[in-house]
Amino acid sequence: MYLPLLLTRDDDDDVRVLPNVCRHRGATLEREAAGCKRVFTWVIAEPDVAHMPGIDARIGALGADFDWIGLPDHRIAAIEQIDIAANWKLLIEGGLEAYHFRVAHKDTIGPYFPDNLLIWQSFGPHIRAMLPRNSMPDLGDAPEADWHLRRDANLVYLMMVNTQPLVQQDHVMWFHFEPVSEALTRVRMATLVPNSAPRTPEMQAHWDKNQRITVIALMEDFELGEEIQSGFASRGNPSHLFGRFEGALDRFNRVVEEMIAG
Ligand SMILES: [Fe+2]
Repeated sequence: MYLPLLLTRDDDDDVRVLPNVCRHRGATLEREAAGCKRVFTWVIAEPDVAHMPGIDARIGALGADFDWIGLPDHRIAAIEQIDIAANWKLLIEGGLEAYHFRVAHKDTIGPYFPDNLLIWQSFGPHIRAMLPRNSMPDLGDAPEADWHLRRDANLVYLMMVNTQPLVQQDHVMWFHFEPVSEALTRVRMATLVPNSAPRTPEMQAHWDKNQRITVIALMEDFELGEEIQSGFASRGNPSHLFGRFEGALDRFNRVVEEMIAG
């Protein structure tokens, strides 16, 4: 269900991103992790470049947000991966609602957020969610010039189908959920930082610490995901119903079903 990407640089030194999937039968187009090639071929002589959508076509209107965030000008400061015994969709759902904070994150990030506040919007198949931090209601009558979205809120994007960046004040956490099986997900978690951030040992220690804190909070979500997965496996409930606070989860599942139906 995940989209493997091929990153290339063309004759004009422009960077291009395309799906690393053969147009013919879906086989992997390029198996090498890195290298130098003029064309990518599997069984045919020429890549069907005209029909390979670039990343812009895939992310649509989210591109404007990513430009605002400055994503193209970021680098990976820390990265790790972990396997979680839950369906990939459960793990994504945890990032699309805020009512679990009070319970799951009560000793970590929960105290920094108002209880169960989140707004979301869909952009084609994609979703953007905004979680205000405690500082946002305090802005009161402050002039708009003093509003700073990245300071006063967390932004969560769901790039359909399984990539979920979390935008924080000075960096972006990048989460990728690769389904290994129905009940096992390989999660990749990276701290993306602006290229302008100093590359000093002190800053690296800061990013490493940030990565650790985020992973600790995320493990609280993943434990919940594993619990829900075992709940499903026990067949204790014949079905589950999304509630009023779970509009984004409903939307996500509908889009997945639409994609599967073709
Ligand atoms: Fe969470």
